[in-house]
Amino acid sequence: MAASEPHHVERLQADDAPGGLALSAAAGWNQTLADWRLFIARGSAFGVRDEERRLIATAAALSYEGGTGWISMVLVDAAHRHRGLATALMDHAVQALRSAQVAVLLDATPAGAEVYRRIGFVAGFALDRWEGEATGAGTASAPAPADTQIVMRLDREATGLGRVDVLQNFLARPDTRCWLAPEHDAFVLARRGHRAWQIGPLMAPDEHSAVGLVQRALAGLVGRVYLDVPRSRTLFTTLLGVRGFVPQRSFVRMALDAGSPSLPERVHVLAGPEFG
Ligand SMILES: CC(C)(COP(=O)(O)OP(=O)(O)OC[C@H]1O[C@@H](n2cnc3c(N)ncnc32)[C@H](O)[C@@H]1OP(=O)(O)O)[C@@H](O)C(=O)NCCC(=O)NCCS
Repeated sequence: MAASEPHHVERLQADDAPGGLALSAAAGWNQTLADWRLFIARGSAFGVRDEERRLIATAAALSYEGGTGWISMVLVDAAHRHRGLATALMDHAVQALRSAQVAVLLDATPAGAEVYRRIGFVAGFALDRWEGEATGAGTASAPAPADTQIVMRLDREATGLGRVDVLQNFLARPDTRCWLAPEHDAFVLARRGHRAWQIGPLMAPDEHSAVGLVQRALAGLVGRVYLDVPRSRTLFTTLLGVRGFVPQRSFVRMALDAGSPSLPERVHVLAGPEFG
């Protein structure tokens, strides 16, 4: 595709999930086929193809209940960058959320933030992906049916996001694990990613409680782990550092038309930059 050609942006269909996964896996991202199926089925996912009909660029928009929408999976194959593809796909993703009349948020990589700033997004707080190894017993069990309602309630109270169907999707995956605080005022989930366990979301009334929960999660898992943690959670990140975790990449939360986004008090680990 020549730089001057107009971009033909298509709405992705169910059978595009493997093509999306190929693109995110090539970029070293952690999303799975189940994630791609969720973006396509539950959200509005868009793509651009090359002459061989191979997906070379994507973006997805998820509209949550309660007035917020999330943009993610803005990804352009390395050989096709700087031709306006991300900007064209963002236009479609933003329009999808504007027509749903929800506020537009996202968590941006440094390269993504350059694109989003040019189209009016305003930066808020920083977060880091922490990477390390869980050397626990591997004995964590699947969530009990009664956990679901507690997780939904605590997530909604903490984030203000109505993402019941996203959480239900996570909880229904066979490898998902869930830990609740004894007082039922905090929870953490872990789900399998393409490269590593993704621990999050973790919602808790304070950092001590958050640290206690993540220790339990790490004691129940075995293998590589990612956690996306707001940079201001210093007690939490100190614990991760002590356990040998290191920051792998950074993100910044950005919003369109809504001022600078701020960090909700009870959010200690995100569901992931692609879900907020
Ligand atoms: C970030 C990314 C999506 C940009 O895709 P793209 O199609 O090259 O972006 P565009 O062509 O629409 O860029 C528009 C403008 O944004 C700015 N920009 C884009 N990528 C940039 C980068 N890596 N660094 C600095 N500025 C950048 C430039 O001003 C660019 O205009 P120019 O090419 O005329 O200089 C792509 O580099 C990518 O897939 N990176 C890896 C995955 C990633 O980080 N995705 C973002 C997730 S939030």
